[in-house]
Amino acid sequence: RHHILSLADFTPDEYDTVLQTAASFQEVLSRRTKKVPTLQGQVVANLFFESSTRTRSSFELAAKRLSADTLNFAAATSSLTKGETILDTAKTYLAMGADMMVIRHREAGVPQAIALEMDRLRSRVGVLNAGDGQHEHPSQALLDLFTICTLLDPGHPRLELLKDKKIVIVGDILHSRVARSNIWSLTATGAEVHLAGPPTLLPQLFAAYGSEIHGEEISQSPIPNPQRKLFLHWDLEPALQNADFVMTLRLQKERMTQHLLPSLREYHQRYGITRDRLKLCKQNVKVLHPGPVNRGVEISSDLMDDPQFSLISQQVTSGVAVRMALLYLMGSGKS
Ligand code: CP
Repeated sequence: RHHILSLADFTPDEYDTVLQTAASFQEVLSRRTKKVPTLQGQVVANLFFESSTRTRSSFELAAKRLSADTLNFAAATSSLTKGETILDTAKTYLAMGADMMVIRHREAGVPQAIALEMDRLRSRVGVLNAGDGQHEHPSQALLDLFTICTLLDPGHPRLELLKDKKIVIVGDILHSRVARSNIWSLTATGAEVHLAGPPTLLPQLFAAYGSEIHGEEISQSPIPNPQRKLFLHWDLEPALQNADFVMTLRLQKERMTQHLLPSLREYHQRYGITRDRLKLCKQNVKVLHPGPVNRGVEISSDLMDDPQFSLISQQVTSGVAVRMALLYLMGSGKS
């Protein structure tokens, strides 16, 4: 695959290739040297037009562990402030010899636009979407998948491990690119994926992914993909019954143009993940959160730090191996 922009058309074989490649890089990262010469001489440009801690740093570290050279761009100190366009910025990095571009932008579609431009120029640059607006965040969903699969079988993470597991994604689904990418990847495993949140943050438009909302009731629609098991809930507690994994999402206040409904306090009361609520789930349930976290809003602070339940640190650790795998799979064959 030349670019990684969305998981909507990822195939089961592609998921398994990413999982197995990431597992081999996880092994490399456990060694003392932690570095391989795989992408020596290649240039990875991290073009982050929107803030990031985890994604930017782990792509940079992943590129360095693969011996690539990295260029880091921060919008606030760039020539964007003098009026240079995004496409001209990307072309500037192309002229410097970038082989891959990792793009984050607050608007959906920017990585796709840059990929189109790179193809139009007949360059061989591969573009990775590191989060575009409310659209997708493929590398986050892939690291979430890797985190879950390595927990189930550390030696051989693979898609089929999640078949018939119950995964609940809770919170601000409306604004979440992480949720959109995870809907594609997790439903591709054969897992039951349950979305839960208040109607203002889980509007009926999500029925387009293959399910319909009927208040507390759930009814599946055979359109567009009957194989995908996706359910929507406006009440959290029925959704949590017998869950294997709970993925809670940040309330994205910066993307909310209106007053949040419900308030943060009401939100925590109705949708916050707490120890009491986890009693509804399977006994060995695990909690994920892509970060950054609003402590005490979407998850209680003590639960976030409890290694018995929380996979949040493992997600960050997995991010380096998974991003090494993505850069390797896109970059091998270029040099
Ligand atoms: N999960 C995630 O994308 O975090 P950052 O915004 O810190 O990169």
